[in-house]
Amino acid sequence: MSLTGRRAVVVGGTRGLGEAVVDRLLAAGAHVIAVGRTAPAASRAHQVVTADVVQPRAGDEVAAAVRGSGGVDVLVHVAGGSSSPGGGHSALTEEHWQHELAWNLLGAVRVDRALSPLLRSSGAGAVVHVGSIQARMPLWDGTLAYAAAKAALRAYSKGLANELAPAGVRVNTVSPGGIAGPGADGLARRIAAARGLSEQEGMGLLMESLGGVPQGRLAPVREIAEVVGFLVSDAAASITGAEITVDGGTVPTV
Ligand SMILES: NC(=O)c1ccc[n+]([C@@H]2O[C@H](COP(=O)([O-])OP(=O)(O)OC[C@H]3O[C@@H](n4cnc5c(N)ncnc54)[C@H](OP(=O)(O)O)[C@@H]3O)[C@@H](O)[C@H]2O)c1
Repeated sequence: MSLTGRRAVVVGGTRGLGEAVVDRLLAAGAHVIAVGRTAPAASRAHQVVTADVVQPRAGDEVAAAVRGSGGVDVLVHVAGGSSSPGGGHSALTEEHWQHELAWNLLGAVRVDRALSPLLRSSGAGAVVHVGSIQARMPLWDGTLAYAAAKAALRAYSKGLANELAPAGVRVNTVSPGGIAGPGADGLARRIAAARGLSEQEGMGLLMESLGGVPQGRLAPVREIAEVVGFLVSDAAASITGAEITVDGGTVPTV
């Protein structure tokens, strides 16, 4: 479905999944601004804006750039992750919690709040938040604060969708399980090297740590970006407040 004439912002659009989302939106004809903490040497986006969503001023910084380009119709929030140590809840300090919540919840809240007047005036606004299956399947040993922040993002997305629907703005969530790519490959290699196994066996153990992936493969960024591209298009005009899980069947419950 064409996005020709639509103005898009991809927060976390300079690498990995975000870069794949930028490519998907460009292919559909959108004008795309990518946001990241650092500007890459090269980007296919029309414009790159540097902002750190962990910082409260990030919303205003992104809004200033967007106003300069005339407005926004599509907002995709990809930035997020976990940098806390393993060891369960007692290993997590106040600072770890503040950082994970700022990175995975407040970043989206800040940019949404700053851009919502522009999205309302679009007439066909569409927001996608990238969550995680950990919102429903928290891995307490390594990423408890991250999982809690993604669960809060999920609840926030649903409420925002209900609030903005009458204004013609749709809000949805895409929740990946494990994502294939250099990060997962490196982790699988490290697991394999530590146990004297092949890379393929290392990947098998990585998938086992998620409780098993019924499809036997992690999702490539291109496939996740495809779901984002669908949700922001007019093909999904009646879909708001929804969550689409892209996890090869990892979450075992309905
Ligand atoms: N990796 C997985 O297996 C997995 C699984 C489930 C869900 N997810 C979710 O998928 C999303 C992408 O994860 P990923 O692992 O693919 O990330 P990634 O490849 O590391 O890419 C993250 C993007 O976000 C930007 N970014 C990161 N922190 C930022 C910040 N504070 N402010 C502004 N931009 C920031 C990065 O650029 P800069 O570094 O230049 O800022 C980059 O463009 C996240 O929301 C993550 O929680 C990932």
